[in-house]
Amino acid sequence: MAAVSLVQGASRGIGLQFCRTLLARGPDSVVIATCRSPNSATDLQKLSQQYPSQLRIHQLDITSEADIEKTSRIITGETDRLDLLINSAGMLHPSGRGETSLKDVSAEGLSVTLMTNALGPTLMTKYFSPLLAKGLGVFGLQAAEPKARHSAVLVNMSAKVGSITDNGLGGWYSYRMSKAALNMATKNLSIELGRGRNKVICVALHPGTVDTDLSRPYHKGVPNLFTVEHSVNCLMDVINGLTLKDSGKYLTYDRTELPF
Ligand SMILES: NC(=O)c1ccc[n+]([C@@H]2O[C@H](COP(=O)([O-])OP(=O)(O)OC[C@H]3O[C@@H](n4cnc5c(N)ncnc54)[C@H](OP(=O)(O)O)[C@@H]3O)[C@@H](O)[C@H]2O)c1
Repeated sequence: MAAVSLVQGASRGIGLQFCRTLLARGPDSVVIATCRSPNSATDLQKLSQQYPSQLRIHQLDITSEADIEKTSRIITGETDRLDLLINSAGMLHPSGRGETSLKDVSAEGLSVTLMTNALGPTLMTKYFSPLLAKGLGVFGLQAAEPKARHSAVLVNMSAKVGSITDNGLGGWYSYRMSKAALNMATKNLSIELGRGRNKVICVALHPGTVDTDLSRPYHKGVPNLFTVEHSVNCLMDVINGLTLKDSGKYLTYDRTELPF
């Protein structure tokens, strides 16, 4: 069945690679890609020339509820369902580097990072959940029992450093706090969107340490730096193996369950 997916934060990095992979794997699939500056998203524009009838690009700044609301209305006019929503946009910190100690923490850094990484994805789900409820259950494994079937999958791109239990090093206040908040939102969403007839599987996924602009300042000394292709292939395997029982989980690229 042809899938309809929405990738939020698709101009670069992991989000762009999700668009590539979803289009390459599904000859009839539709990918709706959002980014804050479509005109400067040159790689995404090139991809749309390769898949003119399957890839649609819309402007959306994840820090603006007005943008999310406006774009949700436009997309709702173009599709009657979503089978997959991936919230990929994210930032380490406005400076590009995580705080190493308390003296680096600022209200501006905390609020922009939280808005981008946690509040925006939650608002995305608010506006797009009606389309997710109408999904046809193309992604994930469907249960035999009708009550355990799902309509769609929501992926919030989290990070292992958002685990409170796993935090042994400290630092990176804004990023760690934002991903911990995103994990809480994912758990909450899994409860609310798991009720009723049209259930949505909601998961927080850690992609590994991936060779992108976000992680670039920290590449030195990473023993296992993933390419975007490898990370997204692993994440697609995780997504395709999900059942409703996995909803609310915090999983890595190899399906290991992380502690909150
Ligand atoms: N790379 C890693 O090692 C790693 C590890 C763990 C988790 N993650 C998570 O994976 C996700 C993707 O990260 P990445 O590595 O692909 O990062 P990236 O290459 O730096 O890409 C970040 C993306 O987020 C978008 N973005 C940032 N602020 C935005 C805003 N206000 N509105 C809309 N889009 C915005 C960027 O768009 P512009 O082009 O407009 O700036 C870009 O498309 C993030 O949530 C990140 O936290 C990454």
